[in-house]
Amino acid sequence: MRIGVLTGGGDCPGLNAVIRAVVRKGIDRHGHTILGFRDGWRGPIENRWEELTIESVRGILPRGGTILGSSRTNPLSRDDGVERIRATLADLELVGLIVIGGEDTLGAAARLYADGLPIVGVPKTIDNDLGGTDMTFGFDTALQVATDAIDRLHTTAESHHRNLVVEVMGRHAGWIALHSGLAGGADVILIPERPFDIEEVCRLIRRRHERGRYFAIVVAAEGATPVEGTMEMVAGSGVDEFGHARLGGIGQRLEREIEERTGYETRTTVLGHVQRGGTPTAFDRVLATRLGVAAIDAATEQRWGTMAALRGQRIELVPLEEAVAELRTVPVEDYEAAETFFG
Ligand code: F6P
Repeated sequence: MRIGVLTGGGDCPGLNAVIRAVVRKGIDRHGHTILGFRDGWRGPIENRWEELTIESVRGILPRGGTILGSSRTNPLSRDDGVERIRATLADLELVGLIVIGGEDTLGAAARLYADGLPIVGVPKTIDNDLGGTDMTFGFDTALQVATDAIDRLHTTAESHHRNLVVEVMGRHAGWIALHSGLAGGADVILIPERPFDIEEVCRLIRRRHERGRYFAIVVAAEGATPVEGTMEMVAGSGVDEFGHARLGGIGQRLEREIEERTGYETRTTVLGHVQRGGTPTAFDRVLATRLGVAAIDAATEQRWGTMAALRGQRIELVPLEEAVAELRTVPVEDYEAAETFFG
């Protein structure tokens, strides 16, 4: 069989482990030919690809990023996107496509499958917010990077008796903020799911000072927003092909508000793309490998319209459409458990 593979959306550590698993099992066990499309959906739209061999995936397991490149190209935002992909698959005589992506890339995959294209999905994102799977690879690595940063910021914040705001990724879901904040012992954690009251944030910081702790760590997800009418909102600058605003800026905004309202010196660190780069943790390598093996097996059995997912401790196939129907956000009770440690 001839099978295509692509990686779309924001990159994350572990993508190469999936590609390696697809290629190794696809060629060695199933006798397939595997073609890797360049830069997400742009690859099949523009018919840009390379053949992947056992040789070409050697040494990529511990490497961050994706050897195939990625992009936020949305095939549904162009009139002929779907038809061009269909034509590429036919031209290259592919029986199907393995699509490794997050909510946008897999959302498009579900629509293309509904239009008759043979697709198997693999979930990825550092945000950990994909509905159909208990966890996405990339999250564990990003969490470790953020936790390491918070640990480092702790010691310098304490030495200088200042507050430090740490802005982490997380557009709609606060998993990185919540878990790194918990692991790093943050004094306040702000997530998109729970609009914050800036006065309450300042009260917690003041209380800490009254208790003789003259510094505080505030971890804020980039998508955290204030309760309406309590603080000026942060406007995004520009949108991508899926209509998402480019976020960033909540950290700086919090820095100014906290300093002005409390009188305590406050600084910001924006972790940004450092959370997405570099070598995957062992956990992410293993999860990505297991998903890659399940995806190539599913493609071999022509189980199109499914996505390989982690359910409990097992890898299972779930319907792609269901998997992308809803985002997996932080439950109220998880946030409330973390609040115990605020201030
Ligand atoms: O989707 C993962 C993610 O890292 C989000 O957390 C973040 O909002 C977004 O990608 C940033 O995207 P870009 O790299 O395109 O600016």
